[in-house]
Amino acid sequence: MAVSGSPKEKKVWFCTSCGNESPKWMGKCPYCGEWNTLVEKSVVTGKGPAKRSAAARASDRKPVSINEVDSTSDVRRSLGNAEMDRILGGGLVEGSLVLIGGEPGIGKSTLSLQIPLHCPEMKTLYVSGEESSRQVKMRASRLGGDASNCFILCETMMERVLEEARELQPDLMVVDSVQTMFTETVETSPGSVSQIKEVAAILLRFAKESGIPVILIGHITKDGYIAGPKILEHIVDVVLQFEGDNRGAYRILRSIKNRFGSTSELAVFEMTGTGLREVSNPSELLIPMHDQSLSGTAIAAMLDGNRPFMFEVQALVSSAVYGTAQRSATGFDVRRLNMLLAVLEKRAGFKLGAKDVFLNMAGGLKISDPACDLAVVASVLSSSFDFALPPDICFAGEVGLSGEIRPVSQADRRVSESARLGFRKIYISSFTTLGSKPEGIEVVKVADIPALVRGLFR
Ligand code: TYD
Ligand code: MG
Repeated sequence: MAVSGSPKEKKVWFCTSCGNESPKWMGKCPYCGEWNTLVEKSVVTGKGPAKRSAAARASDRKPVSINEVDSTSDVRRSLGNAEMDRILGGGLVEGSLVLIGGEPGIGKSTLSLQIPLHCPEMKTLYVSGEESSRQVKMRASRLGGDASNCFILCETMMERVLEEARELQPDLMVVDSVQTMFTETVETSPGSVSQIKEVAAILLRFAKESGIPVILIGHITKDGYIAGPKILEHIVDVVLQFEGDNRGAYRILRSIKNRFGSTSELAVFEMTGTGLREVSNPSELLIPMHDQSLSGTAIAAMLDGNRPFMFEVQALVSSAVYGTAQRSATGFDVRRLNMLLAVLEKRAGFKLGAKDVFLNMAGGLKISDPACDLAVVASVLSSSFDFALPPDICFAGEVGLSGEIRPVSQADRRVSESARLGFRKIYISSFTTLGSKPEGIEVVKVADIPALVRGLFR
């Protein structure tokens, strides 16, 4: 084959909001619809045919039958942290690139430093582009554990990082964070879309070639985008997202993408003075410990990821002080709250139009499971009547626009979790069919809101 051409430099336009690439400038990004976000970047294309044909010669890949593929080579390593192992699908796979995303201050650095400290048989290289080695050391001494096999490198240039990693040959590499790293091959400054893409691609190549798993930390913006949406998610093998209120103690680590396991996994951690503590039974923390009930609280049997857990919904209904009634919800969609209040007004005759309604989810959790509707309605009614619900009842049901209570997914698991935690009664939709007869708990089936009111406040 004729040898011709050399690497070419090409101008492209990147959207700073979503990372979409387009060949020419436009006022509005066709992908995310944002205005004035396209910036010009130069990228190097084509490594030249000479190089490519050498690479092609070196590769001896041929199609093979799936049955003949050796699957035992998927070596998993336990991280000494049961919650982390579970969320990764049974441990960290060799040569995988795991992205941990989350808002600043949520605990990404804490978690990724805690893993090697609590797993000292694993030699770890912790690359920090954000903190000095003294700061990392201070954090490490707070976290406890054995730091003898954990090496810190404060460096932001990728080429140097890889040089050190090849020399040290660690069992795990942590890079904190993708936004601070840069590579010489791209001209732009660290944190720009093209740098982030290239840094992630370099790390992926490194992980695959060396077999060393890499944990990459990425900051996320308020609207949940990891450095402009989706630009990293398709490059990495696993995406874990840290959620929670940084003021609250509980943090949820959710698996959004996992090439080696299920994405319906979720782990709960509590931020303590000495780092993150695994919470193996979240329900026990999220439901009140006091025996006597207060009006305005109700317990929801929720399912998040694959995990059932119970938590307390709190509502406060009071007469509006100002002209228009206020509606506010923490951890719950306020539009959904408004919808539920409208259903209560229209379908069950409760006049809540002139009332302020405040809603709060325990533990700073953000709830999106529609099965919590019934607990929200029960807590609003309880506060409105100033009538405390018995402490041993809980709820799982979605409320429809006509006031009907609709069945929820995996009702059996919710019922058995409630029974396990000592609840005596659970309210569910009358359209639910339970697989087995639950033991130790009375299941009350309600068809609509009036039926719920009759059941609770007769
Ligand atoms: P950090 O891991 O630095 O967050 P991120 O890397 O996601 O930006 O830590 C977040 C917060 O956790 C910080 O405000 C201090 C707090 N923290 C504790 O409460 N206990 C601890 O043991 C540590 C190390 C941090
Ligand atoms: Mg950090």
